[in-house]
Amino acid sequence: MPRLIGAKKKNIAVFISGNGSNLQNLIKHSLKKNSGFIVNLVISNKIKAKGLKYAKKYKINKKVINYRNIKMAEKNILKELKENKINLVCLAGFMKILSGNFIKKFKGKIINIHPSLLPKYKGLKTHQKAINNNEKYSGCSVHYVNSKLDSGKIILQKKVKILKDDTDVMLAKRVLKQEHLLYPKALKKVLTNL
Ligand code: GAR
Repeated sequence: MPRLIGAKKKNIAVFISGNGSNLQNLIKHSLKKNSGFIVNLVISNKIKAKGLKYAKKYKINKKVINYRNIKMAEKNILKELKENKINLVCLAGFMKILSGNFIKKFKGKIINIHPSLLPKYKGLKTHQKAINNNEKYSGCSVHYVNSKLDSGKIILQKKVKILKDDTDVMLAKRVLKQEHLLYPKALKKVLTNL
């Protein structure tokens, strides 16, 4: 994207709860010369999230947030975002719902990847629901986060064909591969407008 060349890289925080394959993928993309972004903060609500190992490997600041009290949790997250001068938050398998208040404070600067062709199949068990409904396709969407679950403006989507005899696990694996292509593309699109 010509507009990003030579421009100062934007600071990204990635929020995770699990394996962190999308986090790893975003970090790898950030290392490319003209990526336009740096991942300089990883937030997890789980101390045992496997993805935290990537923060360690690439020497990125990481913070595990105790979510027993959501108000305190979000206050701590906001403090981290401020301290690390974060321009954009990327949710990548983060299994906590952000409050309307938090979203307002970071308005238009939080995006999420979701494993379905939104607006279909918000929430959990998306591939199983698509299979049960005899859908021809599942897929993934990157969207802005607003105060309604998985409902913000869609940035990019990718369809993945559901095969005969697919299980949700098989389908999730193929969709995840597409997520790794889609998220960096969507991010690039968002960064040009930031
Ligand atoms: C991804 O499939 C992502 O789309 C999904 O969790 C997985 C995380 O994988 N997110 C959601 O379900 C959010 N509602 P990863 O930890 O390997 O990136």
